Amino acid sequence: MLDMQKIVVLTGAGMSAESGISTFRDTNGLWENHRVEDVASPEGWLRNPELVLNFYNIRRRQLKEVEPNTAHLSLVRLEKKFDLQIITQNVDNLHERAGSSKVLHLHGELTKVRSTGDPRLIYEWDHDLNLGDKCQKGFQLRPHIVWFSEEVPNISIAAKYCNDADILIIIGTSMQVYPAASLLAYSRLDSKIYFVDPSPNLSFGVHNFPNLEVIRATAGEGVPMLVETLLKH
Ligand code: APR
Repeated sequence: MLDMQKIVVLTGAGMSAESGISTFRDTNGLWENHRVEDVASPEGWLRNPELVLNFYNIRRRQLKEVEPNTAHLSLVRLEKKFDLQIITQNVDNLHERAGSSKVLHLHGELTKVRSTGDPRLIYEWDHDLNLGDKCQKGFQLRPHIVWFSEEVPNISIAAKYCNDADILIIIGTSMQVYPAASLLAYSRLDSKIYFVDPSPNLSFGVHNFPNLEVIRATAGEGVPMLVETLLKH
């Protein structure tokens, strides 16, 4: 059987917006209630761990109230015909709950926590995390989230996936946070690139990517249409 064509999908907060999870840099961005430095940084964690734990507890609770949207669900259909790898900046589990089988998280996962004393100790966690919740070695647990200024351990495998891709689909990201935003540069010149976003930030320079097609639409509108097109050919 011919090798299936490889599609890599890079998603950001816009992918989950229509599920009711607010984005970060749109007007009512999530960060507005908090300064980023206070809730998503190692300094914020040291300064006020309760504030950080509460911020992620609220987001983890919200996960139980939301569902994957049509864009998450339509991506699953691509797996029938393509070797599909999702790379997401999102920490929600909506791609997994929609049924996607290969999801790489760049910025961590809300449904996991890890030991502050031994980062290899990672636990599934679906309820509130509080001070005093410790790992088996007695260290405080923290959200398994990549905070600003922290390493993004999965970035090199993500870059390889992007370079292997025959088709790269970027959905709902402002392409402002590095190193995730650099992944576009790892795409091959002969690969086809689609960028689905109602108000795309094209400051990376469309002219650098001759095979880039911008689809000015929400994920809920643009992704099902794009999936239809890709499944037809
Ligand atoms: N459908 C598709 N895209 C949308 C929709 C929608 N319904 N609504 C908004 N968008 C787009 C916006 O136009 C914007 O380009 O989603 C993007 C959201 O950008 P950000 O809020 O910056 O989110 P993201 O790019 O994922 O942020 C990257 O920054 O805060 C950190 O770690 C956090 O992973 C996050 C990273």
